[in-house]
Amino acid sequence: MEDPNPAATSPRRLAVLISGAGTNLQALIDAQNTSSLPNTRIVLVLSNRKNARGLIRASTALPPIPTAYLGLQPFIKSNPGKTREDYDVEVARIVLRAKPDAVVCAGWMHIVSEGFLNVFKGTRVLEGEEVLAREVSVINIHPALFGQFDGAHAIERGFEAFQKGEVDELGVMVHRVVKEVDRGEPLIQRRVEVVKGEAIEAYEERLHKVEWEIIVEATRIVLDEVQPPLSSDGSS
Ligand code: GRF
Repeated sequence: MEDPNPAATSPRRLAVLISGAGTNLQALIDAQNTSSLPNTRIVLVLSNRKNARGLIRASTALPPIPTAYLGLQPFIKSNPGKTREDYDVEVARIVLRAKPDAVVCAGWMHIVSEGFLNVFKGTRVLEGEEVLAREVSVINIHPALFGQFDGAHAIERGFEAFQKGEVDELGVMVHRVVKEVDRGEPLIQRRVEVVKGEAIEAYEERLHKVEWEIIVEATRIVLDEVQPPLSSDGSS
């Protein structure tokens, strides 16, 4: 018999943007289609770095996850006259074609521009592409508490500030992406224990473990907004 409501049973689609090791991506890969992230499929992993280990994680996953690579400098070099804004649009186009229900920046080391965000809000329609049926959430993991250490090297800056006694707590968050860097509404924030005099590596190890939990939990929140899981126990 034909499914009366195919939209309710089709997997929720996730696109993940990465730049590096992809350990947060791995957490999402491991969680997809489990009770942590039911009825979910990662449909695209896009990297701005060719050698990102996360690309290998994606292509060797079972089943393999489609990957894409688009580096800023190679893009600018091979398209004379094109700008950073054009690059963002091109990234948006690739992601859009994967038809995601949510986009997760999991260690994506570029600032997400307003032009990119408008595509997923549905307020900007790219030439030749379909009009979005609804807004697609874009979320990001950031290794600091809201408002603490925006931008790059947040782990190092936070750790140093703690060791100097300038702050008394550190943590991580996953937030909705807005054009102001790391200033979108936090979906989940969690404190990470930090110890006076310890090595930064020890702190980082604890921090990453927390990241792997909250990236899955926050992704679930935004996917549930689009399409709630099929049954109350979360099974698909
Ligand atoms: C994470 O610590 C994330 O918070 C930061 O970049 C790192 C990415 O790690 N923005 P990975 O590539 O997921 O291993």
